[in-house]
Amino acid sequence: MNEISTVTEAAAKAVKKPALPDAQTVTEVTHWTDRLFSFRVSRPASLRFRSGEFVMIGLMQTDEKTGKEKPLLRAYSIASPSWDEELEFYSIKVQDGPLTSRLQHIQPGDEIILRPKPVGTLVHDALLPGKRIWFFATGTGFAPFASLLRDPQTYEDYDEVIITHTCREVGELEYGKQLIDGIRKDEMLEELIGEGFHEKLRYYPTTTREESPKMGRITDLMRKSEVFEDLGVEALRPETDRAMVCGNLAFNLEIKEMLEEYGLREGANSDPKEYVVEKAFLD
Ligand SMILES: Cc1cc2nc3c(=O)[nH]c(=O)nc-3n(C[C@H](O)[C@H](O)[C@H](O)COP(=O)(O)OP(=O)(O)OC[C@H]3O[C@@H](n4cnc5c(N)ncnc54)[C@H](O)[C@@H]3O)c2cc1C
Ligand SMILES: NC(=O)c1ccc[n+]([C@@H]2O[C@H](COP(=O)([O-])OP(=O)(O)OC[C@H]3O[C@@H](n4cnc5c(N)ncnc54)[C@H](OP(=O)(O)O)[C@@H]3O)[C@@H](O)[C@H]2O)c1
Repeated sequence: MNEISTVTEAAAKAVKKPALPDAQTVTEVTHWTDRLFSFRVSRPASLRFRSGEFVMIGLMQTDEKTGKEKPLLRAYSIASPSWDEELEFYSIKVQDGPLTSRLQHIQPGDEIILRPKPVGTLVHDALLPGKRIWFFATGTGFAPFASLLRDPQTYEDYDEVIITHTCREVGELEYGKQLIDGIRKDEMLEELIGEGFHEKLRYYPTTTREESPKMGRITDLMRKSEVFEDLGVEALRPETDRAMVCGNLAFNLEIKEMLEEYGLREGANSDPKEYVVEKAFLD
């Protein structure tokens, strides 16, 4: 596992006035592994979003043909909750990726572009009321749930909140693990939601290519009922259970089919039902 390193902007007071259109200033960067990092940026005063939504962010690049500067943008889930005064993102580093080959080198004080038009399906409004909510993530698909898990509404709306996160290696779980630990100790959330709220939260991390306490793809563990036995809950039922899914395309398709078999139907902002899905990245 790689060493985790965080750089915080020494003087948030010294936040520069943005020079780019839609620019925001980086305030903190944490490298979790050689493939994963998270960062925080200033939040536009006018930006309102629902926890779980994504925005377009990026950097300026020079157009090879015209020589002009233009924005290079990619979709990113906002990993911070809607009440946070800054915005947090959790990112892959693709070594030859047009954006992340450069984005991985940002430092506090640098600027990124952020288009303030949040959208997405992983929002509470897209689900009908239920008793238990499942968040199913692989890889960086954890990001929208990092937002929803810190949103008081999640605990107000449900008696039980289960987050599963499947990664290849143990180090790839660390961002999520530390976030869950933080939520369990968060006094502000406790004050907002009520004492003991964190007992509603169940965390189920699994790895597929490195030894860890729970090995296997979440889909296989569900087929074997191992997840349900481990957590001491029944398999999903449309009467009680709601689900949000965010992972690679093959995972999304596989779990979608399973959720339909349990009797859950896919919802949307305009037509809330029992589950919603979003891609963690385009394959
Ligand atoms: C709705 C939506 C939300 C997204 N949210 C996030 C997010 O919160 N965090 C994030 O890191 N990425 C997210 N992405 C992916 C993101 O938009 C970019 O693809 C990513 O930042 C890489 O950009 P790039 O230009 O370096 O490479 P790209 O040219 O965009 O991608 C190159 C290749 O790298 C792989 N790849 C890209 N993104 C990922 C990833 N996240 N995990 C594993 N492999 C990947 C794919 O094989 C892809 O074909 C999201 C994508 C979508 C559609
Ligand atoms: N993670 C790394 O160390 C690494 C290193 C170099 C390059 N890459 C490349 O980066 C890209 C993304 O890698 P990633 O590891 O972030 O994401 P990923 O390939 O989407 O895998 C993330 C997790 O999802 C699991 N998964 C994949 N398909 C599934 C399905 N249909 N049902 C249930 N679970 C499923 C994987 O299990 P399995 O392991 O069983 O597939 C893995 O544990 C890939 O193209 C990969 O080749 C990754």
